[in-house]
Amino acid sequence: MKPRILVVDDDRSFRFLLIETLQKEGYDVVSASNGEEALDIYASVGPFNVITLDVKMPGIDGFEVLSRIKETNPKQLIVIITAYGAQKIAIEAIKKGAYDYFTKPFEIDELRLVISRALECNRLNCENRKLKEELGKNFKFKEMIGSSGKMMEVFEIIKKVTSTDITVLVQGESGTGKELAARAIHYNSSRCKGPFIKVNCAAIPEGILESELFGHEKGAFTDAISRKTGRFEAADKGTIFLDEIGDMSLSMQAKILRILQEKEFERVGSTQAIKVDVRVIAATNKDLFRCVKEDQFRKDLFYRINVVSIKLPPLREKREDIPLLFEHFMHKFNKEFSKSIEHISLEAMELLMKYSWPGNVRELENILQRAIILSEGKNITNKDLPFYIQFLESEIKMEIGTADFSKSLIDTVKDITDEVEKQIILKALKKTNWNRSETAGLLKISRKSLFNKMKRCNLIQAEEQ
Ligand SMILES: Nc1ncnc2c1ncn2[C@@H]1O[C@H](COP(=O)(O)OP(=O)(O)OP(=O)(O)O)[C@@H](O)[C@H]1O
Ligand SMILES: [Mg+2]
Repeated sequence: MKPRILVVDDDRSFRFLLIETLQKEGYDVVSASNGEEALDIYASVGPFNVITLDVKMPGIDGFEVLSRIKETNPKQLIVIITAYGAQKIAIEAIKKGAYDYFTKPFEIDELRLVISRALECNRLNCENRKLKEELGKNFKFKEMIGSSGKMMEVFEIIKKVTSTDITVLVQGESGTGKELAARAIHYNSSRCKGPFIKVNCAAIPEGILESELFGHEKGAFTDAISRKTGRFEAADKGTIFLDEIGDMSLSMQAKILRILQEKEFERVGSTQAIKVDVRVIAATNKDLFRCVKEDQFRKDLFYRINVVSIKLPPLREKREDIPLLFEHFMHKFNKEFSKSIEHISLEAMELLMKYSWPGNVRELENILQRAIILSEGKNITNKDLPFYIQFLESEIKMEIGTADFSKSLIDTVKDITDEVEKQIILKALKKTNWNRSETAGLLKISRKSLFNKMKRCNLIQAEEQ
């Protein structure tokens, strides 16, 4: 089906030109010559894939149409048409929820680009919604998002292990969702009404870990002033999540092995065996197999916990999940911070898709939280992202192609050289890990001159992030 576009403009000749151009591009075009007509059409045959909307119209103006349509359908993509040079109006419209804008008289290429971007954004939104609906149908992965092949494999394994009591080892880099996977297993299993007890083996000092896990009797050691139940007992009829198991000492590993084999243990200071009904899920960001080879992890325990292993892919290997994750975090943070973000610009999404994400989903979550708090309009744009992502792999882009002759030759050349200078400084800063003395040395300028240039190029703030 052809994408449907509603063109709203009171200028007859401009409207016809726009309709003709868009029809030639293969779109199904409906038009309105004023705000009232636009609202009527929208009420009877809306929504549209895109609406192009003139701001200045007699009667109900573009802003009014924009807010009324957004009230009924916040997801409707609207592109504003402004007179050349009316940047302020465009910015105002974007703050009110317009997706993008283009200027009158329009360049065909500019129009094509704006419309195709809007349609692409539309497509992603639809896809995300559909995928989410499908995922939700059979299984409660509510908080665990992904539609990439790698995540589908993970979901498949999770589904299979939920109906058993098998010990599971979850592996993956930091921030890939190991804890989330462990919780998904527990809350989708028959133990879901029982407790989910997490133990961070790396964070609890070696001397305390044993009593934390197994509890102790009164007087078992100097500080044991009363009897304490351990986390294995607390997890009875539920699941215990042994996080960072790769950091556990060899002697503790022996005790965990016994529990897995015999399902019983003794409190510290007691000889009475306690039986528990606990499912064990372990996680690590270490290569446990290598730890075994290096004698840092018991081979027998490795085979005991590695009955089924789930490997969570790093985000850089499942970039196709980023749009879906964006949607998820957008809703989450809109709610949390009472914001009403609706979209992300295509450029900003491209940057997210390119970045290498060493901190995986957690890093993406933090960056989006920041962007959503900072954003003033309804769209996340490049400017809401941290500088190190904004200037990602930025190359010297000679903007000659975009020179529109609105400025004098001298000013145009100055704009371009300023940009080139900024990019070179940025490259040097990155190379020296933002060390100013080294950067000044590399560029063969004084530190003071570097500071002034960084200030002018807005790079001081970037350095502080
Ligand atoms: N697939 C996903 N969908 C939605 N959120 C995710 C996903 N994966 C991770 N997250 C989010 O990223 C953050 C980190 O996840 P989690 O704590 O489970 O990672 P981890 O692998 O245990 O990290 P670490 O090794 O640092 O403990 C959490 O806020 C989690 O909700
Ligand atoms: Mg974790």
